Amino acid sequence: MAVTSAGTPNPATIRREAARRRTFAVISHPDAGKSTLTEALALHARVIGQAGATHGKGGRRATVSDWMKMEQDRGISISSAALQFEYRDTVINLLDTPGHADFSEDTYRVLSAVDCAVMLVDAAKGLEVQTMKLFEVCRHRNIPIITVINKWDRPGLDALALMDEVFERTGLTPTPLTWPVGQSGDFRGVLDRAGGTFTRFTRTDGGATIAGEETLDAAAAEAAEGEAFTNAVEESELLDLEDQNHDQEAFLAGRTTPVMFASAVLNFGVHKLLDTLVDIAPAAEARPDRDGEPRPVDAPFSGFVFKVQAGMDTNHRDRLAYIRVCSGVFERGMVVTHASTGKPFATKYAQQVFGRDREVVDEAFPGDVVGLVNASALRVGDSLYLDKKVVFPEIPTFSPEHFMVIRAKDSSKYKQFRRGIQQLDHEGVVQVLRSDLRGDQAPVVGAVGPMQFEVAEDRMVNEFNAPCTLERLNYSLARRTTLECVSTLARERSVEVLSRSDGELLALFSDRWRLAGVEREHPDLVLEPLVVS
Ligand code: G4P
Repeated sequence: MAVTSAGTPNPATIRREAARRRTFAVISHPDAGKSTLTEALALHARVIGQAGATHGKGGRRATVSDWMKMEQDRGISISSAALQFEYRDTVINLLDTPGHADFSEDTYRVLSAVDCAVMLVDAAKGLEVQTMKLFEVCRHRNIPIITVINKWDRPGLDALALMDEVFERTGLTPTPLTWPVGQSGDFRGVLDRAGGTFTRFTRTDGGATIAGEETLDAAAAEAAEGEAFTNAVEESELLDLEDQNHDQEAFLAGRTTPVMFASAVLNFGVHKLLDTLVDIAPAAEARPDRDGEPRPVDAPFSGFVFKVQAGMDTNHRDRLAYIRVCSGVFERGMVVTHASTGKPFATKYAQQVFGRDREVVDEAFPGDVVGLVNASALRVGDSLYLDKKVVFPEIPTFSPEHFMVIRAKDSSKYKQFRRGIQQLDHEGVVQVLRSDLRGDQAPVVGAVGPMQFEVAEDRMVNEFNAPCTLERLNYSLARRTTLECVSTLARERSVEVLSRSDGELLALFSDRWRLAGVEREHPDLVLEPLVVS
């Protein structure tokens, strides 16, 4: 072990700390209640006194995670942050993900840093487009999923029908841990399927404080709730018959998804979700490197950047690189090696960030997230380590579907323009594509969702002092190609080849018919889809 300086935790301590970490993200289709649940979780952990302090829209308190003015104007959360709290002697790391589908690429990056995902499903809507995409990404990454059926306080779909939908559309066997007592719209509490007890929920004023909960045995529950309880028991028995019971191994292997029922807005079921995370969510474990070789949690420090962010708050206008600690102990001030350059990187300013609040981090263990300030040398996917070199798997970039040419409005600001473009590229706010034909004065920016352009433009103006113009290009599809294919592609109409900063050559097409036409005409061309995950 290289980490042996005085006061540094020993390997046994690191293993113990890793074992009590739960690092997860809440993901969902927009509007399923992710922000509300995040608040409710934080409230339960008693980090904040009243729900609404971290997020919240409408008439609730101003949002802390709405860093950029644009976010405030739109009432959406673009920036991601990490929230850490202790619950039942477990350290919970909740990684926030953006709510808007245009920023889904950010969500996928965050997913590279978690050990588990909580998938929120709106009880009235079932599985939606984004829910399906996220299920798919989790499956690719082998991320175990806990499914939470939210908004049970409102009329919605039938619980058994929802289970069928989960099974049919995701292929995962739903294994409910709790089962609702009362139909959607009449949420009285949940049956704890393993113990057969009933947890009754009591409403509090607008869900702003922790909901009352009491546990009743089956006889008392039946006496109190009558048919609503016996129905729940019968349905639970149907699930037994189908073998839809929790199996830890199958859950961790991504074959099943434990399900819970909740109402985030009323704080119903939130406590149980925390207990479930502690009891069954995987702890921080050895992470495989690029070659699939796992780095034990008690090996010297290592971690990777899963997000770079800047200009979040005018009080702290700087760059933050979020690192997921994978092994060893992170100590503020330590000098680590930046794998892609081999250069030393000093971690003098390390912080935990949630919303606008920052706390200095002195020590972090596997599973924790650390924000490194002024980390302009770091890019998404970069690995950092002490002692033995490790390079973690790349975080794949998405296939952009929207393209714009970006130019400086004022040619005397070209230096600022270039600096801004470079920074946005590093952070992955947009993908920057270049060609000799277009030159550096007019690069093309690509995005998965058009709102990414608005963020880019806003930052170019307000942060880099480089007002710019954006002009839409008529492409909607990118394919990876090779140098040998460039001359053939260049002769085709409505096709353009540009190079991305990671070295990939991307051929852009107006639509899939144009792509199909080119493929038909030149079957030998390399035109590979860019992998999503
Ligand atoms: P998101 O982050 O996933 O996009 O969803 P968010 O939490 O913002 O919730 C979307 C809407 O759904 C909000 O209503 C929120 O209050 C409501 N909601 C969340 N959880 C529940 C729940 O368990 N039951 C019910 N009935 N509603 C829920 P809104 O009208 O858009 O905003 P607000 O003014 O009420 O905050």
